[in-house]
Amino acid sequence: MSKNIPFIPDNAPFSPEQRAWLNGLVASLFSSAPVPASSPVGQRIAVLYASQSGTAEGLARKLAKELKAQGYAPAVSTLVGYTPAALAAETHALILASTYGDGDAPDGVQPFYEQLCLEHFPRMEKLRYSVFALGDKNYEHFCKFGADLDTKLASLGANPIARRVDSDVDVDQPFSNWKAAVLAQLNRNEPVARTEHHASVPALAKTAETRSGEVAGPQKTQPKFSRENPLLARLVDKRRLTQSASTKVTLHLAFSTEDSHLTYEAGDAFGVLPNNDPNLVAEILQRLGFNGNEQVALGNVGATTLHNALLHNLQITRLSRKIVQEFAKRGNCAPLHAMLAPDRQAALEQYSSERGLVDLLVEFPGVVEEPADLVAMLPRLTPRLYSISSSPLAHSGQIHATVAVVRYVANQRERGGVCSTLLADRTFLSDRLPIYIQPNKKFRLPADPNAPIIMIGPGTGIAPFRGFLHERRALGHAGRNWLFFGERSSSSDFLYREELESMLADGHLTRLDTAFSRDQPDKVYVQDRILEQSRLFWQWLQENASVYVCGDASRMAKDVHAAVRKVVEQEGGMSPEKAEEYVSQLKDQHRYHRDVY
Ligand SMILES: Cc1cc2nc3c(=O)[nH]c(=O)nc-3n(C[C@H](O)[C@H](O)[C@H](O)COP(=O)(O)OP(=O)(O)OC[C@H]3O[C@@H](n4cnc5c(N)ncnc54)[C@H](O)[C@@H]3O)c2cc1C
Ligand SMILES: NC(=O)c1ccc[n+]([C@@H]2O[C@H](COP(=O)([O-])OP(=O)(O)OC[C@H]3O[C@@H](n4cnc5c(N)ncnc54)[C@H](OP(=O)(O)O)[C@@H]3O)[C@@H](O)[C@H]2O)c1
Ligand SMILES: Cc1cc2nc3c(=O)[nH]c(=O)nc-3n(C[C@H](O)[C@H](O)[C@H](O)COP(=O)(O)O)c2cc1C
Repeated sequence: MSKNIPFIPDNAPFSPEQRAWLNGLVASLFSSAPVPASSPVGQRIAVLYASQSGTAEGLARKLAKELKAQGYAPAVSTLVGYTPAALAAETHALILASTYGDGDAPDGVQPFYEQLCLEHFPRMEKLRYSVFALGDKNYEHFCKFGADLDTKLASLGANPIARRVDSDVDVDQPFSNWKAAVLAQLNRNEPVARTEHHASVPALAKTAETRSGEVAGPQKTQPKFSRENPLLARLVDKRRLTQSASTKVTLHLAFSTEDSHLTYEAGDAFGVLPNNDPNLVAEILQRLGFNGNEQVALGNVGATTLHNALLHNLQITRLSRKIVQEFAKRGNCAPLHAMLAPDRQAALEQYSSERGLVDLLVEFPGVVEEPADLVAMLPRLTPRLYSISSSPLAHSGQIHATVAVVRYVANQRERGGVCSTLLADRTFLSDRLPIYIQPNKKFRLPADPNAPIIMIGPGTGIAPFRGFLHERRALGHAGRNWLFFGERSSSSDFLYREELESMLADGHLTRLDTAFSRDQPDKVYVQDRILEQSRLFWQWLQENASVYVCGDASRMAKDVHAAVRKVVEQEGGMSPEKAEEYVSQLKDQHRYHRDVY
């Protein structure tokens, strides 16, 4: 038997998910072999994470726990403020890295990467490493930062312990696969064959600047309020922005931050720590035959009741592969086993997208016998982010949000998004909710008060632009402001209509181009309006305008990007390649910013 763990080659006829699953299976088979005498037990292993909303950090801590249990000496650290010199001093590093912005590093991690990319940086041949990249396939640059880091370390001569795994949002299975492969190799103390990497390391994205021109770097002081220590903010305003005739509900919300010293800048987002619908929790408990007072233990919460855990801490409305696997195993459920086969990924995704925990309890009753088993299979409930739609100068002591309420019917059941229905149905004026600021240093107004800006924000994408417009007015900035807004219908979905029309009337908003998609037989979107105004758009670009895009990532952002490129091609007389280069340069000059979700 070969000493190295075999890998399914990249050109084998499997999808990336199937390949990851098979690699994990092979790795776990190999890792169940006894630990050889040469295994580096007691070995120091740096566990490094680049994380913004905490997923990579959580996995890093989980990994460290497991490494410790196996006798290694893990040293966990964030890459914010970390130096490549410290990395070069390690012999083993396991790196968990998420991607943000347009394929960029999470906030504060860019300085580490930039230093690593300096030409004179010494080689790292003594380092053995592996990267777990976290991302979301809805984004154009899937897992790009993790991939760049992996490529860079390999080019510096570091030796991979196990191949990089690129994970979509459902991290559990890919993480288990990667961990199994890493542990198996660590226990064997062998480097694997080098991962095939692209020949060239992608050019560095320039460091974003804050409005004051300060280079964004590791945060010097910890913010007072954080995900771990949120502010309990009081709801002081709540009104519907869409009319009653609309097919959707979008809300304007204001939270008071008075006396809290919580600060933010226009362009930032804020996180809400939500809780689940109590009616759904009651139904789940009833179907399980539990009363909710059963004691359970949660990693970072400690002992609590099952009711509290289901209400506040556990994600119960989405199904992950892990939950389906657990049900299949515990209940020996043949239909679930069938869907877990590597070639049935699409069927599993379809099944999961229409169901939550309660559906499994209905379809496969009696599978969960112990509260602890349920807690172990459910992921943690994560905060939801909202772009701030106020300006700290114009709306002092408040944070505003523009929230589309998620409601849909699937598998014959009415369902709601956890946080948006919490805000819509279960939060009333004067109620308090835990919130924290999620800075977005790459989404800032230009420092030049006279620079023109073009904002493209259909739907809730309008949120940061309402903040920008109020902020520019409060600052007395004279630069021209052009807004593209789109929604379904002008009569019922024109968000902030009066405010925008009044800004247009007094000249603060130079242009407002709207695209109401369902007001005519054929759909009209913001990108159609951009193309209709391509000459003027190009002229603004020539006059140093910055372009901002906010809203849906899966379709809108890609289509708008294509429209901007088309404007450059058409009006600048460039080839498609040159036009893409031009848009890339806009990004490098901090003149093309996207905040898409
Ligand atoms: C940086 C950032 C800024 C954001 N800003 C805003 C903002 O300003 N305003 C805003 O409203 N949102 C914003 N969001 C989105 C927001 O964070 C939440 O994702 C959104 O409110 C939904 O959360 P939820 O808890 O209500 O729904 P969840 O419980 O998270 O449920 C949403 C999930 O439901 C499923 N789903 C939804 N519709 C259907 C359907 N028709 N069929 C089947 N499944 C479906 C999908 O799996 C979807 O992912 C932002 C996100 C990010 C990352
Ligand atoms: N999972 C998805 O596929 C999906 C898609 C969109 C939004 N969302 C999420 O739903 C939530 C609410 O969305 P929202 O209220 O902000 O509005 P939205 O659903 O993004 O819709 C706003 C406007 O954008 C239009 N639109 C649809 N596709 C577009 C495209 N490719 N290019 C440009 N415009 C397009 C819509 O038209 P029509 O609706 O008439 O086509 C509508 O007029 C957000 O959280 C968003 O991320 C999810
Ligand atoms: C504003 C925003 C931008 C993102 N941009 C990307 C991206 O460009 N590419 C990608 O693969 N994932 C992207 N993601 C997805 C995150 O990388 C993913 O959710 C990851 O699990 C977050 O890990 P963290 O919680 O450790 O920060 C983005 C997420 C957000 C909220």
